Amino acid sequence: MKEKYYITTPIYYPSGNWHIGHCYTTVICDCIARYQKMLGKDVFFLTGTDEHGQKIEKKAAEKGVTPIEFVNPLIDDIKSIWNALDISYDKFIRTTDDYHIKAVQKIFKTLYDKGEIYKSEYEGWYCTPCESFWTDSQLKDGKCPDCGRPVSKEKEESYFFRLSKYADRLIKYYEENPEFLQPKSRVNEMINNFLKPGLQDLCVSRTSIKWGIPVTFDEKHTIYVWIDALTNYITALGYGSEDDSLFKKYWPADLHLMGKEIVRFHSIIWPAILMALDIPLPKKVYGHGWLLIGGDKLSKSKEDKIKFELTDPKQLVNRYGSDALRYFLLREIPFGSDGVYTNENLIGRINSDLANDLGNLVSRTIAMINKYFGGIIPEREKETSFDKDLISVAEGVYDKYVAAMDALNAPDALSEVFKLVSRANKYIDETMPWALSKDESKISELKTVMYNLSECIRIAAIYLKPFMTKCPNIILSALSLNGEDYSDFSSVKKFGGLKSGVKVNTIPPLFPRLDLKTEEKEIEDFLKKEKESKMESQVKPEVKLHDHSDKPVIDIEDFAKVQLKVAQVIACEKVEKSKKLLKLTVKLGEEQRTVVSGIAHAYSPEYLVGKKLVMVANLKPVKLCGIESQGMIICAENDKGELSFVSPERDIEDGSQIF
Ligand code: MSP
Repeated sequence: MKEKYYITTPIYYPSGNWHIGHCYTTVICDCIARYQKMLGKDVFFLTGTDEHGQKIEKKAAEKGVTPIEFVNPLIDDIKSIWNALDISYDKFIRTTDDYHIKAVQKIFKTLYDKGEIYKSEYEGWYCTPCESFWTDSQLKDGKCPDCGRPVSKEKEESYFFRLSKYADRLIKYYEENPEFLQPKSRVNEMINNFLKPGLQDLCVSRTSIKWGIPVTFDEKHTIYVWIDALTNYITALGYGSEDDSLFKKYWPADLHLMGKEIVRFHSIIWPAILMALDIPLPKKVYGHGWLLIGGDKLSKSKEDKIKFELTDPKQLVNRYGSDALRYFLLREIPFGSDGVYTNENLIGRINSDLANDLGNLVSRTIAMINKYFGGIIPEREKETSFDKDLISVAEGVYDKYVAAMDALNAPDALSEVFKLVSRANKYIDETMPWALSKDESKISELKTVMYNLSECIRIAAIYLKPFMTKCPNIILSALSLNGEDYSDFSSVKKFGGLKSGVKVNTIPPLFPRLDLKTEEKEIEDFLKKEKESKMESQVKPEVKLHDHSDKPVIDIEDFAKVQLKVAQVIACEKVEKSKKLLKLTVKLGEEQRTVVSGIAHAYSPEYLVGKKLVMVANLKPVKLCGIESQGMIICAENDKGELSFVSPERDIEDGSQIF
């Protein structure tokens, strides 16, 4: 029977603001999953989405939709990103899935029945974006220690998990299982910052949050979102359901991989829950570093810093292909540490490693076989004095590659493969096939050189399979090897497995060289345009009101809610970067207001100054193109889209009420 390997990514918040940093955990997991499969293991790779909690509740309310209506399209969105990146997950769990909800409720009840959960009152600091409670001493300058955002004091009846009693057991577990939490630096961080100062019992239910899983025996309580989220790793396998065969087969997880900011949840809270449930702990929890931009964790909320860096995963895949993006993520960031993301770094890697080193080696080899041997891979004949070293480099890859991959060190494993690629390129310079071809007596050496080069690219392609999903197969098809079963590493440990006498196929350049300046210019233009169109689309709330369809009959009370006033325009200008918007400064008696209105196509700013208009004065302010609009100008619009603002029939003081 095959050995099993269960690997998980964290489940993602459906924020919709996905960036390349989010792809990091999932791409590494995918690479490790593919590698473990090639080692012959029965791999189960889990990913999914973390859909409950206050953050989602709030965002949905802002949009005027229900939480599930808010998250549903975002789940399709993230799945399409994983698809674009060729992520080979076996299961996608949503915390809104029925089976998960039922299992979480069961787990909560079991913990309560065992006395691991009890009812009390909570008072503490809560960070909404991180869904985390903090004590006074944990706050950093009065703010959330994880994200630096403001926290609020919350007090309510809550259920508590007896986390405090697990501190010593956890320290002991770390000591006895040095492989459990990695890299080592995270162990010290957890022990010194959390376990040694002593753990407090964890508040695991809220009454003020409705969007979540209700406690079955006390329905006004909603289960704390991290308890709901962490248990996904077992509920996805059927734990707590009628069919737990996957749980029996794959648990304990071989690897939970995540970014360093959520290691605390995975290495303290999660193991304590498992201990409380008498379930074995995962074999390894690994907290990787972050992808940084301008010295900060990549985040869409820091838009200014990423002005001209393209960070949208789908755009990046469209532009450079999934292989290039996967390669960059797996090669550039020293594993366990932070790495810097810039378009320049990405383009640099594509040009130097993929286009120059790998791409050139493949295209030169195929071109020379075509030129010297009519496209047929020759048999090795006479040895050259450079063969031994080349072969020993090729045969030396396996042990170092496997050691690096087993340590989850993808960059080092890739570097071993690229040492072979570089060695093969150097072999071309050393053997000078073009010179050999001119000397009849050297043809048997030329044959050996061509065979050895083809064998090197075959070996490199097979080692690259966990990292890139397209280019290895293209390389193998260039050597007419696409029919071969290269699903493991057995054919690459020893040099010489390549069949000769086979016809090569000419392929287009694997990774065309990119011109940095052109790329930067195009990216800048693209991002500017995108920003402009985003601003334009913010105008939509007002545009939506120009709905010519019949509206329902309303009561006089409904109409009375709308406060209309006469406003005089005292200044007006175009809104920069918008074709539709004008910014009007209007006077309503004593009061002055700013109104942003989508009427630039109908009126020039000069024409409007001095005019008296009708405006909705009690409309909730909205930001349009970064300007707060404190009201709305009333206009008439015909079917052709022609506009006319509405004015009082005779001159009347601004600020006058309209009823
Ligand atoms: N929902 C929680 C996880 C619950 S698991 C029981 C969560 N979700 S997340 O969407 O915010 O993050 C998902 C993964 O993306 C995490 O591993 C996180 O570290 C990773 N990244 C998000 N931004 C990142 C970078 N800028 N760089 C590297 N990885 C980062 O946390």
